[in-house]
Amino acid sequence: MSDAKIKCSDAHICILGIETSCDETAAAVLRNGRELLSHVISSQITIHQKYGGVVPEIASREHLLHFQQVVEKAMTEAKLDYGDLDAIAVTYGPGLVGSLLVGVAGAKAIAYAAGVPLIGVNHLEAHICANFLVHPHLAFPCLALLVSGGHTHLILLRGQADYEVLGRTRDDAAGEALDKVARTLGLGYPGGPQVQKAAAAGNAAAFDFPRAMLEPGSLDFSFSGMKSAVLNTLNTARMKGLSLCVPDLAASFQQAVVDVLVRKTLLAVEQTGVKRVLLAGGVAANELLRTTLTRELKERDGRLFFPPPQLCTDNGAMVASAGYYRYLARDFAPWTLNAVPGLNLT
Ligand code: KG4
Ligand code: ZN
Repeated sequence: MSDAKIKCSDAHICILGIETSCDETAAAVLRNGRELLSHVISSQITIHQKYGGVVPEIASREHLLHFQQVVEKAMTEAKLDYGDLDAIAVTYGPGLVGSLLVGVAGAKAIAYAAGVPLIGVNHLEAHICANFLVHPHLAFPCLALLVSGGHTHLILLRGQADYEVLGRTRDDAAGEALDKVARTLGLGYPGGPQVQKAAAAGNAAAFDFPRAMLEPGSLDFSFSGMKSAVLNTLNTARMKGLSLCVPDLAASFQQAVVDVLVRKTLLAVEQTGVKRVLLAGGVAANELLRTTLTRELKERDGRLFFPPPQLCTDNGAMVASAGYYRYLARDFAPWTLNAVPGLNLT
């Protein structure tokens, strides 16, 4: 990194954030950690929809096709030249290896050509940092419920980038369970928003699906049994020649998932005494989760923070936000930065 230009002052820091870990090619330019100058996302949802989920090989090819135009659009909208940037932040894991590699290679090329530092960003940290875009003065310690398609974590944040994972899923992630149930119900991909939509017309008390709480005091999660309960209910009805009400199934399953997420989060609040809670990841866009947790925390003198829905799912702004804090800590990546598909938070 010796040839990269690093500013002496931290005024007007402009970071280009790049995200390609799964099926969104995204780039954003962020000034001073909170001023979003551009925010561009090219989604592959319509391409993967016909397969019922993300096809990794197709995802990486699509990133290759769209990377350059997404980054150029982000720069044009920000009205900046590459020379105006202070660093390039890129997601290097966790995620699909082929998809990550497109972003990492592209970010390296831009950073090297512009003579600015490269910052490697953990995708999970980026989801958490989406909160700081809208709540930049959030105080520590706080708890984070990180719920995405690949992860379900309860995390204690003692400070910026100072994490302790208190609990995690032992099998499916919450988003993964929603996606699988949605597919079985014929609701399409991605499942979370479709389940939410179908649930709006359903009765959440129609089916009593199990709520897996595991051992007393445990902050871990398990969604695979809950998902199987829906599939078993559906199969049993089909064998009897009965058809079940899809909105009722969607509403009851969404309620079961939200109940577990809320109960475990409140348990973490009780165990740690920390009452500030952040929601992060794609499932954080879920309305029922947001309203239930907001209400429950308020009753306990706590407070829930969350990003707007478009910053909950994968985007470049959250990567730029994480990159901004890494920039302030002068935590730069070497030119040998590689994709790490199984990267952990701690
Ligand atoms: O964070 P994300 O965009 O990608 C990963 O890092 O995995 O999360 C995607 C997940 C998918 O499982 C999707 O179904 C879920 O977030 N999701 C939702 C909602 N919007 C997206 N789940 C429930 N309700 C939503 N509104
Ligand atoms: Zn994500």
